[in-house]
Amino acid sequence: MSRVALVVTGGIAAYKACEVLRGLQKAGHEVRVALTADAERFVGKATFEALTHHAVLTSLYDNPDDAIPHITLSEWADIALVCPATANVMAKVAAGIADDAATTMLLACDCPMLMAPAMNVRMWRNAATQENVGRLRSHGVGLIMPDTGLLACGDVGEGKLAPVDDIVAATLDELARVTCPQDLAGRTVVINAGPTREAIDPVRFIANASTGKMGYAIATEAIRRGAHVRLVSGPVSLAAPQGAEVIDVVSAADMLEASLGAFEGADAAICTAAVADYTPVRPADHKLKKSVERLDVIELVETEDILAALSARKGERVVIGFAAETNDLIAYAQAKLAKKGCDLIVANDVSRKDSTFGADTSKISFVSAEGVEELDTLPLPQVAERIIDRLAALLEGRA
Ligand code: CTP
Repeated sequence: MSRVALVVTGGIAAYKACEVLRGLQKAGHEVRVALTADAERFVGKATFEALTHHAVLTSLYDNPDDAIPHITLSEWADIALVCPATANVMAKVAAGIADDAATTMLLACDCPMLMAPAMNVRMWRNAATQENVGRLRSHGVGLIMPDTGLLACGDVGEGKLAPVDDIVAATLDELARVTCPQDLAGRTVVINAGPTREAIDPVRFIANASTGKMGYAIATEAIRRGAHVRLVSGPVSLAAPQGAEVIDVVSAADMLEASLGAFEGADAAICTAAVADYTPVRPADHKLKKSVERLDVIELVETEDILAALSARKGERVVIGFAAETNDLIAYAQAKLAKKGCDLIVANDVSRKDSTFGADTSKISFVSAEGVEELDTLPLPQVAERIIDRLAALLEGRA
């Protein structure tokens, strides 16, 4: 459960702050409220006290239980949300003005701050307001931008408070970010992902069913936990995780070279890629004609094992591999752990519908020298979280 300081300022959209508050509570978070004097004209203190079961901050004085209520609330909060934010309060916060309880509390906050502006279209477009938007952003304040539509004053245009669901979702996203442990901060992690393509000729190749979803989910989680991620990716149709350094590759040979290069100066590697085990010995430089050339027999040669190559070079660093199996999962995973020399194998039974290539869930087991831990079937983001938990613990153990 996280803690949100909700600052309501004086506009007609103030009544929507009650729904935002309920949305945050329903998501399991605790909310406390500060009201400006103008906000109180729209929605009374009693409403917010009833919703939060807590005193509402409206004055710096006259509080018998707390001599410094603005500091108490600012220290309590994991995040401050100003909703709705008037042009006046945006201007005051941008300038560091603290002339009432709400703005004094905001000035004392060192937690992340979000603002959901709502005002008349001309007030929104006013150069001063737009300048303040820029200034607030440069101070690190997140803006939940207003919608365009019919405004309470009768004008049509930009300035309508963003939808309640969007404000709740943006606040939850920010909370997830700020309350996430940064246990990989300062670490560089190499993750390889997806299939590889081994050329037979310029138009034909050998590939496999990997979609890259697992590797991309792990990359996303590693970034969320503070890591710098070098994502060596085979051909996939996934959007790059925000913040990842993506190195696109095609063949197993490319992936080997890119993974070894990326591992230089890195702290760990996670090999999720479904690397082709064999590649054509002599890919043709022209499209083979089946009437005159052999396509029924393609001579193959084994590719180099990237996981084994990284493990051989790891020293004190951490290397994690995968084992995609359809039978004898744990026995094969244990054999791969020993043969490839990595620290941990994530064993994945790809014969299961809920764990196969392309699925949004996975049922994995951790196999290491310490033993075997079998997990339930989980959505990929949670699988990624558990894998990164293991990586963080292994790195911590080396420190
Ligand atoms: N792997 C690799 N380089 C290869 C083949 C596999 O780095 N040329 C890695 C995979 O990324 C994975 C682990 O080795 O982390 C196991 O891959 P998997 O396909 O399960 O097994 P293989 O080693 O290919 O053996 P087999 O196909 O016999 O199960």
